[in-house]
Amino acid sequence: MVSVAAPPVTLTINGQTTPASPGRSLFDYAESLGVAVPTSCRTQGKCKECLVEITEGMERLTPPTEAERHLKPPFRLSCQCTVTDEAGPIACQTMRRGQMRIERHALGLPTDDRKPELDPAVTRDGDRILLDGEEIARSTGPIHGIAMDLGTTTIVLRLIDLETGEMVADASFENPQRFGGSDVMSRIHYDTTHPEKLLMRTLAGYLSHAIESFPVDPQTIYEMVVAGNSTMRDIFFRQSVYTIGQSPYQSITEIELEEGKRTTTSLTTTGRRCLLPIHPKARVYGAPIISGHVGADAAACMLAIDLANENRRVAVMDIGTNTELIVGNRERILAASCPAGPAFEGGAIACGMPGLEGAIEDVTIDDTGAFQLGVIGDSAPAGICGSGLVELLSELLRTERMNLLGRFEDGEERITLDATHDIYFQESDVNELAQAKGANVAGLQVVFSHYGLRFDEIDVFYLAGGFGRHLKVDASKRIGLIPDLPDARIVQVGNAAIEGACIALLSVAKRRELEELVRRVEHCRLETHPDFFDFFVEGCQFKPLETAPQDDAP
Ligand code: FES
Repeated sequence: MVSVAAPPVTLTINGQTTPASPGRSLFDYAESLGVAVPTSCRTQGKCKECLVEITEGMERLTPPTEAERHLKPPFRLSCQCTVTDEAGPIACQTMRRGQMRIERHALGLPTDDRKPELDPAVTRDGDRILLDGEEIARSTGPIHGIAMDLGTTTIVLRLIDLETGEMVADASFENPQRFGGSDVMSRIHYDTTHPEKLLMRTLAGYLSHAIESFPVDPQTIYEMVVAGNSTMRDIFFRQSVYTIGQSPYQSITEIELEEGKRTTTSLTTTGRRCLLPIHPKARVYGAPIISGHVGADAAACMLAIDLANENRRVAVMDIGTNTELIVGNRERILAASCPAGPAFEGGAIACGMPGLEGAIEDVTIDDTGAFQLGVIGDSAPAGICGSGLVELLSELLRTERMNLLGRFEDGEERITLDATHDIYFQESDVNELAQAKGANVAGLQVVFSHYGLRFDEIDVFYLAGGFGRHLKVDASKRIGLIPDLPDARIVQVGNAAIEGACIALLSVAKRRELEELVRRVEHCRLETHPDFFDFFVEGCQFKPLETAPQDDAP
């Protein structure tokens, strides 16, 4: 009798493939491939940090253990799952670092050439380290602080020398809380239904590894400033986020402020309580939030663009699953948030994907009608990211292959961009993008209308955040995602929130300015505006945004 060897199990971790035999854990294989998987418990199933996302072959792994009770597919703890003897491929991905296109910097800010005076809360008096003038440690070593932009999808950290104001190191990685859902509403639901603070603890583990990998003794870090949306910030500070998920969508800090139980929506705790390896008496300061879903990231952004001292009329638009809008100047500021959904981040789109390697980000239709595609990382296309989708819509409009209602003119149901890699675009995708655009435009229209401003009266239109940074401005204007303003007035600033967090870390005066500024912001509730629905319907069409007068100023 001839025995036929079973085809082997092949395991691919972060793109590296190895033959695998039954009985060994994914964590072990990752180690042998040189892929670093975060751990603080030496594979005991306790730290919950060794997260992987299984993209293929979940059925070839042993069933989830008790330690994985908090996870749903496709997530597993790599130390808990071992390969079974069922032949075939298994593929997984650790939480991503580096490969993601994370915006670490800001550009074109008015503060770029006017650094605020160095005035940190942590100072030195001989060998005494003082926080707001109170001794918290004795040391002659350096004094450091951390600024953090805590996003739903990505996290950026900057380590700053508080005596020179210089950045010593930085780090960025995917928010490991993704196992609790990809948007804030899912995270709120997860956090509310899992009382063990798993989202916070997993994040603290990842942050600890990032801090320990900095080239300084973590005990020399005496303060940390956190800018993040209301949900991310409040989860990190162990606050209940239940009320952010329920109308009227308020952070617990806003409710307590209204009840007179606190004087600010900012939060303060210690390094020890945040489970971080920084000095145990280090202060962790959560920048104040503006209102509901207009969070501390938007507040930090206001600091970065120096809104408190701005005479020009400026607007800030940070397009994302939840788009944030700020309009005004030193005299009056309005802010709003609009839930636009994940379409512009590639979610809910058949061939959509985030801005990772392999994403199509440039789309041109040439004279012969053929698509010319630019792909991140110059690799084979794997999907289309948000900025690619905006350019694709714009090109289809320009070449009249799509009308302004989003219908394909030649009766096709789908348009193929790359037949070899099966990348296509279909009318249902257009509908998703139309609705996301409709929500963004309605937000803009309501805020400008409420302020009593026309789009063309804006002097500077800041596009903030990672998506805004990579948007093609002409394409965005053609499809009506942003107002049709002269290019010189549109500034793509990138990650202004981390810049604002750094400013707050380096200057007590600026932090005070931020606290005062936030109190002056009027929150504009879009959902209750009588014209919201009309603006939304109009905004679903793909045509340039009118800059005609809006006449329902208060
Ligand atoms: S390594 Fe700690 S839970 Fe897996």
